[in-house]
Amino acid sequence: MIPANLERAVYGMYATHALRVADRHGVFAHLTRHSGDSAPTIAAALAVDEDTLERLLLVLASFGVLDAEGGRYALAAGVRPYVDRDDPHCLMGFVDHLVDDTAGQFGRLGGYLRAGKAETDRDRPAPFDSLYRDDESVGRFLDAMWSLSHHVSHELAALADLGDRRQLIDVGGASGPFSVAALRAFPDLRATVFDLPQVGPHLAARATEQKLSDRLDFAAGDFFRDPLPPGDCHAFGYILSDWDDETCVALLRKAHEAGLPGGRVLIMERLFDDDRGGPLATSVMNLSMHVETEGRHRSAGEYLELLRRAGFADGTVRRSSGDKHLIIGERRAESGSGR
Ligand SMILES: C[S@@+](CC[C@H](N)C(=O)[O-])C[C@H]1O[C@@H](n2cnc3c(N)ncnc32)[C@H](O)[C@@H]1O
Repeated sequence: MIPANLERAVYGMYATHALRVADRHGVFAHLTRHSGDSAPTIAAALAVDEDTLERLLLVLASFGVLDAEGGRYALAAGVRPYVDRDDPHCLMGFVDHLVDDTAGQFGRLGGYLRAGKAETDRDRPAPFDSLYRDDESVGRFLDAMWSLSHHVSHELAALADLGDRRQLIDVGGASGPFSVAALRAFPDLRATVFDLPQVGPHLAARATEQKLSDRLDFAAGDFFRDPLPPGDCHAFGYILSDWDDETCVALLRKAHEAGLPGGRVLIMERLFDDDRGGPLATSVMNLSMHVETEGRHRSAGEYLELLRRAGFADGTVRRSSGDKHLIIGERRAESGSGR
């Protein structure tokens, strides 16, 4: 008998793909509105092949995503917000990214094990050159980031306590998942997303959609080449996990240099437990960071050390109820560059 944990690990690939296909073909949207329908009824409503649909539903039920009783299907307890495209918790954009971008890259792990990452990736384009190969890829990646980051950002913005801040610089802020949440929570705040030029039109569209164009703007730039815009709060959401320690310290020093006296830096990341025994999502995404970027996930203590090396004082850790947490560094009022 295969141990249950091993069985789930072996067949996990089917779960990710089944989630993606079900989302694409409207199965979750249907079950959100018509819980308890049978496979023939769902197939007729969605105009899809009944045999294929039923096999898919049985896989999702075996993984506990659906409840199946007497041939009738319903979303299992607690699942709906994460599969409903109309819900801010929805993870399906992220599942698209896993299937379209991440899965194809795991083949390189064998090379990493034999020859190391540096040697294996020698002729590979830089991470965002391949992720942003055309506008469709940019849009897909930014949707994935929005779906991962926006909901928890409401909690992170509250934890960051930005009531005394006036100018947020959201470094690598993408289409604004954190900036939008921060602007909603703090009416006196303005935000600038500083990101690669390809991101500009997506941020502008989001600012219009959210009716925030008067307080949310875009600065095109490359954080390796350009100085960061000045502000009293620089945010790094899922940025430092893309890069190695030396690069992170260099980026944080740039924020220190661009920070006004009394300025603050916000690092928002998944965190490893101190013994790196979990959580599961952090361990998995740490492997993803290895194949997709040049970074890794870290514990809270490791981020505090990066802040200290960049010249920030009084690092504090504030945990959200989700899987993205906040580490705050304060720039001493009198301090100059952190070098
Ligand atoms: C993993 S995403 C994080 C998005 C967002 N901050 C969040 O928390 O969801 C990394 C972001 O860094 C941006 N980025 C990557 N390289 C950059 C560079 N050299 N200069 C500026 N932004 C960059 C990407 O365009 C992307 O928006």
